[in-house]
Amino acid sequence: MKKVLGILAIIIAPILLTSALSRPIASDYEIVDGNFKNLKVLPQDISKDSLMGLMQQYNRALGVKCNYCHVQDKAADDNHNKDIARHMIKFTNDLNSKEFNPLGKHYENSVSCAMCHRGDTKPITGVKYFEENMKQKK
Ligand code: HEC
Ligand code: HEC
Repeated sequence: MKKVLGILAIIIAPILLTSALSRPIASDYEIVDGNFKNLKVLPQDISKDSLMGLMQQYNRALGVKCNYCHVQDKAADDNHNKDIARHMIKFTNDLNSKEFNPLGKHYENSVSCAMCHRGDTKPITGVKYFEENMKQKK
């Protein structure tokens, strides 16, 4: 009986795996205009293209993939990094509107995720780390 189960597992595992891999990402959630369910900081009427443009920027600025902030259902709040990202979006917007935009055209929207993150989830937060980083590059 054990042997039969073992053989069955060998046959079934690859089938399960391929079906999991071939399943479209977020099959239970279509990313389309007007279908955003849980926006707390981005504009409610944001288009799919603008939202996806921002998400791609987050990926590149932090050097991550979507799943760094999201579980499969992109509207769910089950990933703590999504919470942190909401604060980051808000404080980036605030810095621009309150501190940078008033300085004039040249300073408009100068603050972005990439400004601090530079392709990493953890920006360098102290001179000591900055200097170590420079030494490593030499
Ligand atoms: C750095 C974190 C981060 C990364 C990386 C990220 N997202 Fe998001 N995403 C968020 C946050 C935060 C929200 C919610 C914004 C709000 O509350 O207004 C969101 C919202 C969304 C929504 C809207 C969900 C809804 O219905 O409310 C979609 C769709 C989405 N992201 C897709 C993606 C995709 C696809 C990728 C990869 C290309 C991605 N995200 C990468 C943080 C991230
Ligand atoms: C002014 C600098 C600054 C800007 C701008 C900024 N961040 Fe951050 N971010 C930080 C710092 C500092 C941390 C804490 C890093 C640590 O844990 O050491 C952090 C942490 C995070 C984390 C948690 C990372 C982890 O693994 O703990 C996420 C997610 C994040 N930022 C997303 C964003 C996104 C998205 C944007 C743009 C909307 C953004 N940040 C803009 C400085 C910034």
